[in-house]
Amino acid sequence: MFESLFRKRSVAVTETHSQNTLLVDVHSHVLPCLDDGAENLDNSLALLRGMKAMGYKKVIATPHVMNGYYDNTIEKINQALGLVRDLASRNNIDIEVEAAAEYYLEDELLNKIEQGEKMLTLDEENKYLLFETSFIGRPSYLKESVYRIIQAGYKPVLAHPERYAYLQKDFDSLKRLFDMGVLFQVNINSLTGYYLKPAQDVAEWLINRKMVAFLGSDCHNIHQLENTKSALQLPHYQIAVKQNLLNNSLLKKKTLVSV
Ligand SMILES: [Fe+2]
Repeated sequence: MFESLFRKRSVAVTETHSQNTLLVDVHSHVLPCLDDGAENLDNSLALLRGMKAMGYKKVIATPHVMNGYYDNTIEKINQALGLVRDLASRNNIDIEVEAAAEYYLEDELLNKIEQGEKMLTLDEENKYLLFETSFIGRPSYLKESVYRIIQAGYKPVLAHPERYAYLQKDFDSLKRLFDMGVLFQVNINSLTGYYLKPAQDVAEWLINRKMVAFLGSDCHNIHQLENTKSALQLPHYQIAVKQNLLNNSLLKKKTLVSV
């Protein structure tokens, strides 16, 4: 019912930014001790070194935020960001680090958004809000939630749509979400089969239809980052980076969100 409220989008993402190389990673867990990503500053350092070596100029850290499980506040995230920025500079790693979040889609999130609480978005202008859902069960309120996020002035970015079991066999839902205005962030590691074949198939399907807005590493540890590196020569990675991805549009510096 909500699709009709949105103008159908053409298949291609319209904003264009010339690029054949990703300069900004939009999804990573490089901040220490906030979630299931970096466990300490040494881990953070290793990830930043690896990302710098891959050619990234900016890494947007997106710690999980999930009520009662990952209760990461803006203060906590900013504090970890400060530590990691300082660490990078002391170790002469010339890479910009910013912070947003990977918000779990739940009532608490929607309530916060609608109450006008400050949210950590990938950028300032477009207010790209990275969110994830349960991996197994389809949220019964998915389209309604997307609608509420858009109504509140954000552009919802669905993290790794190819990884959700409930979407892997439901291409119609993927198309409907896309037409509603959901931007898809595909994980680079999906292209290697890291998350198994169904996820790889959906990632390739989305790339073939130019439905991908962002690629992300979603790296939690150095093992995953090594896998990301191994994907860079794959045909679908090469196809994707020649499409009009929005990664490099996020090079502009973001003001630190204060509370
Ligand atoms: Fe993630």
